[in-house]
Amino acid sequence: SHFNSLPLPLNGKKVLITAGPTKEKIDPVRYVTNHSSGKMGYALAEEAVKMGADVVLVSGADNTEVPAGVTFLKIESAEDMYNEVMKYYPQVDVVIKSAAVADYKPSLVYDKKVKKQDGNLMIEFERTKDILQELGKNKDRQFLVGFAAETNDLEKYALQKLERKNLDMIVGNNILEAGAGFSGDTNIVTIFHKDKSVKKLPLLSKHETAKEILGEIILKMGDD
Ligand code: CTP
Ligand code: CA
Repeated sequence: SHFNSLPLPLNGKKVLITAGPTKEKIDPVRYVTNHSSGKMGYALAEEAVKMGADVVLVSGADNTEVPAGVTFLKIESAEDMYNEVMKYYPQVDVVIKSAAVADYKPSLVYDKKVKKQDGNLMIEFERTKDILQELGKNKDRQFLVGFAAETNDLEKYALQKLERKNLDMIVGNNILEAGAGFSGDTNIVTIFHKDKSVKKLPLLSKHETAKEILGEIILKMGDD
């Protein structure tokens, strides 16, 4: 019927989404990572496609089914993610950085397996690049969305990140709250906008949360 030809809200929009953890190599058999499952980012990618967007998904997760219709790029380290994101950044309208990027990586990657010895092992870590902060510095027309998973002082830290990284919006959650953790299928988020408006969402599935997040983006992205 003619109702099927109604334009979708993200028709013609290019959306770059990052998801999952990064893995930082120690040696050929070991790495450092975190508990991110990638489910929130994959839900965002799937719902954005349904709303008509062209979606690029840069992911450090590999155990979740890739949503149909997305351009999928699997990465391992924070540096890999940085390189892919920077490649696509100039051509996208929206960036949603739901990935849990490592803040540190081993300063030196052993090329052979590290053998155990008596006594303790010391590993030095160095900072990775803050991808989102770099995007914020080089923002022209892009609508930039960050995530903040905190254990305490959510509002304070989320607002600090919104400002420091020059974001348009940040999605915060308290990972210690039941139903808001890393591996589950639900989340409880609060959305903070650059214009100081705040939207607190109840416990929802990650797909329902994704639809609400995209709704907030659509609402605000025309504002500038
Ligand atoms: N982020 C990023 N690159 C990094 C670290 C974080 O792009 N090297 C992004 C995340 O994808 C997320 C946002 O920045 O969208 C906030 O990440 P978070 O870890 O909460 O903040 P940090 O600035 O790293 O501060 P901290 O971990 O100390 O709370
Ligand atoms: Ca961090």
